[in-house]
Amino acid sequence: MQIYMPTNVYSEDNCVMNHRKELAALGKKALIVTGKHSSRINGSLEDVEKALQEENIPFILFDSIEENPSIETVMEAGELGKREQVDFVVGIGGGSPMDAAKAIALMIANPAMDESILYKNEKLPALPVAEVPTTAGTGSEVTPYAILTIHARKTKQSISHKIYPDLALIDSRYLKTAGLDTLVDTAVDALAHLLESYLNTNANSYNRMYSEKGLSLFAEIREELLSCRRQGEKPAQTLSDRVFGTLMQLAATAGMAITHTGTSLPHGLSYTLTYEMQVPHGKAVGIFLPGFLKYYQNKDEVQFVLDQMGFASVEDFTEYLDELLGKVEIPEGLWIEDVKSIMANKAKLKNYPFEMDKTTLYAFRR
Ligand SMILES: [Fe+2]
Repeated sequence: MQIYMPTNVYSEDNCVMNHRKELAALGKKALIVTGKHSSRINGSLEDVEKALQEENIPFILFDSIEENPSIETVMEAGELGKREQVDFVVGIGGGSPMDAAKAIALMIANPAMDESILYKNEKLPALPVAEVPTTAGTGSEVTPYAILTIHARKTKQSISHKIYPDLALIDSRYLKTAGLDTLVDTAVDALAHLLESYLNTNANSYNRMYSEKGLSLFAEIREELLSCRRQGEKPAQTLSDRVFGTLMQLAATAGMAITHTGTSLPHGLSYTLTYEMQVPHGKAVGIFLPGFLKYYQNKDEVQFVLDQMGFASVEDFTEYLDELLGKVEIPEGLWIEDVKSIMANKAKLKNYPFEMDKTTLYAFRR
């Protein structure tokens, strides 16, 4: 068994300002990587800028990271970072900017290389990375993964390099301006990480501790999430500070879980839906969670994860997810192609501990 969790994680209110010295210690000039809007609205960008200014660390801003960031965007930000001679990268936002920050840190540290290194199995250096999450979903602030959109292949895939953030600064107050759909979709992504990590070829007693803890955190807040969906109100109007705090902790814990195991079939099946139908990542993954539990061959383990979440059966869990997420109609042709591509991809099947066949996988669609 092995456990390795090298990211220095702080989680508290006012986290960025409280730990600005650790942030400043990462280098002499920063590239801040974020999206266009949300980090301005939730105050995270302002906090990072203020923290760096107080520590006299110059910085430049790249704020054009799109949802499901492309290799092209990573290269553009990398060029900026090289020109400006930055020596560390700060990702602010959901999974997209945080994942992009890692890939950008790789490109800047290898200035003579082109984009082909992203998916090359070769040990290469990367600049130090700090992450400030503003959604509770991907857990990218603690994982070594950086998932990019590959337009040429019409899908998404993590780069070949494992780049652990040096520092994660988690402040659940940034969640409060998130919309209901974003909050719910990202929470389901985190839930999927916990389940796909526990029920995984690479699962062991150490890394399962993360999933067990995360699933019990989910049990504490699942009814509040559902009632927020039922009332259709802004999360900040219905959810307490405790729920926001638990969501952030849940996402980071889930990130630590998949760091050790990788994800499994629901994630593998989801990428085509996100690429072809623009279904948000967490929602796309959530479609396949009931099928994943229903057909998983070790029924005792399935019952264990259901118990941890507080569900009596897979049917109860399915009903809950249907109401929380809503349904997505997947066109037949696209679904057949998706199943076929997973069945042909050994890397995608290797984290599933049992034999999988086409007919069973086909039945994962709801
Ligand atoms: Fe995910």
